[in-house]
Amino acid sequence: MIKLGVNIDHIATVRQARKEDFPSVLHAAEVCQSAGATGITVHLREDRRHIQDKDVYELKSLLNIPLNLEMAATDEMVNIAREVKPAFVCLVPEKREELTTEGGLNILSQKERLTDVVNRLKDAGIKVSMFIDADIAQVKAASDIGADIIEIHTGNYAKYFKLSASSKEFTDELSKIAKAASAGHALGLTINAGHGLDYDNIAPICALKEMNEFNIGFSIVARAVFTGLDAAVREMLAKLKQYSC
Ligand code: PXP
Repeated sequence: MIKLGVNIDHIATVRQARKEDFPSVLHAAEVCQSAGATGITVHLREDRRHIQDKDVYELKSLLNIPLNLEMAATDEMVNIAREVKPAFVCLVPEKREELTTEGGLNILSQKERLTDVVNRLKDAGIKVSMFIDADIAQVKAASDIGADIIEIHTGNYAKYFKLSASSKEFTDELSKIAKAASAGHALGLTINAGHGLDYDNIAPICALKEMNEFNIGFSIVARAVFTGLDAAVREMLAKLKQYSC
């Protein structure tokens, strides 16, 4: 069955809206863990708009399941990661003005710098994932620079599914993801995916046998407003169980 990493950034988004100490990110992570999530993901953004440094350190010491730290490939973030030592770091592109991560990293245009970042993280015993678009050239570049994992950006997949699951745009995007996943798997990379995945669009991508883990945040936290977080995580896990091949 495909694993589920729950991204809890938006618990911190609610907390930071009032600069309060609740809702607790740690409590949310514990609930996800006990509901069966196989990992917790947080994105420490350069502007600290949701997750704070303290959250990352506390989550690392609290969790029994792996912590996946999403971050930009900057010196500041690399130093934090090397100190915290999460199980995984996922390198993402980051723009201050964006609402959320808008696309994959362009590894090809910054191979040398990213190789150095990957080496510094791996030296600290951290497995490194690259968040990339479903593009074979980027998959190969991730392998060339020594990444362990690729997380395929599913933003367009989610967007086209919403327009129509029977559209050419959607089937083309799913086929690009399938090709990228199989190329990555052949190169020995672990294949994850995430961004915009929800309870409705999860089924088709579950059919890709190379998929190891999905990182899902917004749809789970949004559903939790009505059902509670435990039920929202369990419902997503039930979908993964139903549709994983
Ligand atoms: N994976 C990455 C690399 C992301 O940047 C995000 C968004 O923070 C997610 C997964 C989760 O996306 P969503 O919140 O849309 O489920």
